[in-house]
Amino acid sequence: MRNVALIVAAGKGERAGGELPKQFAPLCGKSLIRYSVDSLSQHPEIEGVFIVIGAGQHTMLADAMAGYAVAGTITGGAERQHSVQAGLDAIAAAGGAQNVLIHDAARPFLPQSVVDRLLAALEAHSGAVPVLPVVDTLARTNGALADIVDRNALVRVQTPQAFRFDEIYAAHRNWTGGLATDDAQIARAAGYDVMTVEGDAVLDKITHPADFAAAEARLATSRISRTGMGYDVHRLESGKPLWLGGIEIPHSAGLAGHSDADVALHAVTDALLGAIGEGDIGTHFPPSDPQWKGAKSHRFVEHARDLIAARGGIIDHVDLTIICEAPKIGPHRPAIRAAIAMMLRVAEDHISIKATTTERLGFTGREEGIAAQAIATVRV
Ligand code: CTP
Ligand code: MG
Repeated sequence: MRNVALIVAAGKGERAGGELPKQFAPLCGKSLIRYSVDSLSQHPEIEGVFIVIGAGQHTMLADAMAGYAVAGTITGGAERQHSVQAGLDAIAAAGGAQNVLIHDAARPFLPQSVVDRLLAALEAHSGAVPVLPVVDTLARTNGALADIVDRNALVRVQTPQAFRFDEIYAAHRNWTGGLATDDAQIARAAGYDVMTVEGDAVLDKITHPADFAAAEARLATSRISRTGMGYDVHRLESGKPLWLGGIEIPHSAGLAGHSDADVALHAVTDALLGAIGEGDIGTHFPPSDPQWKGAKSHRFVEHARDLIAARGGIIDHVDLTIICEAPKIGPHRPAIRAAIAMMLRVAEDHISIKATTTERLGFTGREEGIAAQAIATVRV
């Protein structure tokens, strides 16, 4: 292989706190690690992505990687440098590569332009790293302020760091210098020249809890708002249970259909799928497929939610209108709202439930069936 990427994600994320190690924590619904995997795997020059994770993190990685086949999953070590070494061993065992880009999973936003600059620099140098200027005044301190350090001679070093594979692999094996916080210092110690290229502020590392909030805010403003609409009808049959909006409502008749026939949730599912251009409910859950017979419709809504989350999308709002003569929806509105909010993992004020009759006109007016329509607004 010519260019491969090695993402180190074997840390504990202790400073970030949280339930999951930060590399697997959700950022706008999508795992942190998935952002850099997507960016590197979508770069036309990168032929494979190897990922180093901690012992016991395989299930978390599998959840984060749904739908993407990594070139290799490696178990890392106690320190970042050991994790990189384990990754380089695995790439060597897989046949090696000409160049390797070593990247922190904790830096989710990776512009393709940075990868372009790194690969271009590797044409003439053994290594290349993205750097940014230091903008704050820098000073020594022993509690009190001491001497100023000339910031013009300093840079902030980011990842990915690009190297010729055989050279960085040898440098790592021969390194005797104790703990290294990045790989460029190991390459330089082995005598290789490492060039700087322009980094990017979006590449800054997620380290503390506040960094998650800042990253989510950054994503939110870079998204485009889209709307989708959904419409569905099901026939009423007497004696069946009535499932509507994710709850069971006592009524003399229920809706007939292949699944539980929850017409409201079907409209919501189609609205969500419409907003991301992912076809309709029948595309994902064909009525011809026996596995969806009697299925609970919350699964359809949750599937659409997961597709949006996989793109790092945000569900801003869902507005649902249920069209029927009976039962009266008003008394059930809070329960339906809560149920749909739970399915979509959003606060209830992102969900609106409305109902109307059709003045006894048409099939809904004759109580032959119930119709529902929904509009979803998402940012992707
Ligand atoms: N890393 C790793 N193996 C380790 C330690 C860190 O692969 N033994 C990875 C992290 O997963 C992260 C990158 O190296 O992608 C940078 O490390 P850091 O930001 O320090 O992450 P953590 O070590 O997870 O965080 P903390 O130090 O707060 O525990
Ligand atoms: Mg660490």
